Amino acid sequence: MDEFDADRASAERLDRDDPLAWCAERFTVPAEIYLDGNSLGPLSADAERALDDAIDEWRELGVRGWTDADPPWFRYGERLGDRLAPLVGARESEVVVANATTVNIHTLIGTFLDGLDDGSKILVNELDFPTDHYAIRAQFRQRGLDPDDHLVAVESVDGRTIDEERVVAAMDDHDVDILFMPSVLYRSGQLLDIEYLTRAAHERDVLAGFDLAHSIGVVSHDLSEWEVDFAVWCSYKYLNAGPGAIAGLYVNQNHFGTMPALAGWWGHEKATQFDMNPTFTPAADAGAYQIGTIPIFSAAPLDGALDLIDEVGIDAIREKSLDLTSYLVALVDDRLGNEIDGADGCTIGTPRDPGRRGGHVAIEHPDAERIAQALTESGVVVDFRPPNVVRMCPSPLYTSYADVWDAVERWRKILDTAAHERFDADRSGVS
Ligand SMILES: Cc1ncc(COP(=O)(O)O)c(C=O)c1O
Repeated sequence: MDEFDADRASAERLDRDDPLAWCAERFTVPAEIYLDGNSLGPLSADAERALDDAIDEWRELGVRGWTDADPPWFRYGERLGDRLAPLVGARESEVVVANATTVNIHTLIGTFLDGLDDGSKILVNELDFPTDHYAIRAQFRQRGLDPDDHLVAVESVDGRTIDEERVVAAMDDHDVDILFMPSVLYRSGQLLDIEYLTRAAHERDVLAGFDLAHSIGVVSHDLSEWEVDFAVWCSYKYLNAGPGAIAGLYVNQNHFGTMPALAGWWGHEKATQFDMNPTFTPAADAGAYQIGTIPIFSAAPLDGALDLIDEVGIDAIREKSLDLTSYLVALVDDRLGNEIDGADGCTIGTPRDPGRRGGHVAIEHPDAERIAQALTESGVVVDFRPPNVVRMCPSPLYTSYADVWDAVERWRKILDTAAHERFDADRSGVS
């Protein structure tokens, strides 16, 4: 270990020096060591309080909650958009919360496809989270277009990462109209260079959109400055807003006034929404891409969860995240790498350059699925992504350095005792 000492006392020392150590007290973490916040963040006292308040207001105010709740439910989507704008580096008017991530992909891809001709092409990559492709393909089908002719996927050279240069080359080779990429790859945790890709897209008259599901709340962004055209994200990972929490979207102000593909009354201009006019007048800003009534109980926990994130600030969150993932990578090399045990060696699947990774680390092992189960049974919650990846996410708001140290030691013990061999490699269900 070049940068870190490998003993537990050093982990404890890092915890004593950690300026964010106090944040963990605000969470109820559902396991001894919870390293799955890249899938579902845990409950915080702040999120719970906000949800409880919303339930109290429903009980006490009923329908008057739309105007008299604190904050009023009617503009909750816009309010949360304002609060999220600094996390994505956007103007308040460019951000709103609404729908689910997949629905936001549908509406924004659909909206921008509507402005293009029937020959249009969208560039994605083969390592994307599948829902992105499902939604884009469906949008082509709805226009009577064969997705196989219109969706182009950049291939990965190593099965882990996407080379940005190949993305740029593919824009040229395939005469692409829209680039839609993740900020962070869901399996390997590679962070793509959004600024570079957006610039390259614009130089080719290509629109640039991003799925920020794995970066919002753990990596800072400057979407407005980079002139990204549109983006979507979920709130249940690093924003800790709860299972199925309301998603978010960003549309650059240059596109304000573009008719939403999936129009609905919640995207109507607010001042006249209740005039019940049969003609749809979209809101003048990103609010236009809301569709139906905001689900308040999926939005309130986000309002609460953002209190802590605001208090700490995204830069401090990113700094600790990078420290934790660097520490984890160093420990895996030291304790689980090939030099310890050739047969059972683990490989880091995440870029080693900290500037090229998000908030989680992909650890590859041929028996990853059974190891993930053995770790979870031992009190370390992680997840498995086929074919051979255990994802470990030391989330900066509630993970300590000692948690990381203990998790790696438990993995070591599992290998030493072959404890994982008692489990079935069975892919059914949620992981
Ligand atoms: C990159 C990415 N996009 C989208 C989603 C999920 O979309 P939704 O919130 O609609 O379920 C995930 C879920 O993990 C994801 O990782």
